[in-house]
Amino acid sequence: MLERHDAPLAPLTTFRLGGPATRLVTATTDAEVIEAVREADDTGTPLLVIGGGSNLVIGDKGFAGTALVIATKGVTLDGTHLELAAGEVWTDAVARTVEAGLAGVECLAGIPGSAGATPIQNVGAYGQEVSSTITEVVAYDRTTRETVTVPNADCAFSYRHSRFKSDPERYVVLRVRFRLEDAEGLSAPIKYAETARALGVEPGDRVPLDKARETVLKLRSGKGMVLDPEDHDTWSAGSFFTNPILTDEQFAAFHARVEQRLGTDAVPPAYPAGEGHTKTSAAWLIDKAGFTKGYGTGPARISTKHTLALTNRGEATTEDLLTLAREVVAGVHETFGITLVNEPVTVGVTL
Ligand code: EPU
Repeated sequence: MLERHDAPLAPLTTFRLGGPATRLVTATTDAEVIEAVREADDTGTPLLVIGGGSNLVIGDKGFAGTALVIATKGVTLDGTHLELAAGEVWTDAVARTVEAGLAGVECLAGIPGSAGATPIQNVGAYGQEVSSTITEVVAYDRTTRETVTVPNADCAFSYRHSRFKSDPERYVVLRVRFRLEDAEGLSAPIKYAETARALGVEPGDRVPLDKARETVLKLRSGKGMVLDPEDHDTWSAGSFFTNPILTDEQFAAFHARVEQRLGTDAVPPAYPAGEGHTKTSAAWLIDKAGFTKGYGTGPARISTKHTLALTNRGEATTEDLLTLAREVVAGVHETFGITLVNEPVTVGVTL
């Protein structure tokens, strides 16, 4: 197990933000992960688990405790069953499934971060969510001090949420198991309208797997959502806010407010989100509240490619980022009466 002291955490995050950790440990096997977690728990040391660092906002003061980097490796494909070690790079694993001719995660190509992080917030994009293909999650339970296998039905998956996110101090994900589909080289039915349009097919159609993956990568790149060290638009955590889910009543009030603010021609995006609920678009709210692409004059600004991504232009501090995030939350609330909620995990700071 590699161990360092007073180690900078910023290089481990896609934002490139955050101060040092008292101690930084890198674990390459499940046994090492468990050993490091147990040691921290036995000594009452705060623990920060780091995967791909793509969904983390670490305060400028850093982390007083043990930061544990999950660097476990392992991809096992057996028929349509896939098992990934938590430390595997997610987007590489997706490429492997496409090469193997298996459908189910091809639209999740290009998402930064580690495989172990995917069940935590039920990662989703372009019409797919990992909750549709995960069969079970193997995790270390810090309460019972045992390794547990949690079947899909017990993961409490919902939009960008799961039981692992509800109880963030309890579980450390070790392995994720998926059941994919052998559709003879074809993708799962394309659900997202934008993807179907780009592919020139109707929603519900299937396309060759590699075509689906390439199209998603192209769409994501156009929004600055594929990591590129040269491009500051990608020094981000992807979407900084979740899309608000409103009750029908709240949506009606919101719609009335939109008409009052923007005129009767303005139609807010609305997607069905379960019985009596509608999801609207955080990117749209931010845009229409006046925070357009590239907004800001300081070292933290809104991405020039997508209003939902806040970015570090190179010299930002976490405080700069939070100041911008708070300004956006206040502006959207003042304009539309909706309070945006951050999607990335914050460490040592709050919005
Ligand atoms: N829009 C704007 N301005 C923009 C961009 C978008 O007004 O600059 C509006 C448009 O009305 C557009 C709508 O927002 O139709 C939706 O935009 P998009 O399709 O890009 O989706 P999103 O809601 O912004 C979500 C996920 C992304 C995922 C995409 C594609 C969340 C919080 N975000 O973004 O996930 O890639 O859909 O499926 O659910 C992430 O979570 O980090 C992430 C990147």
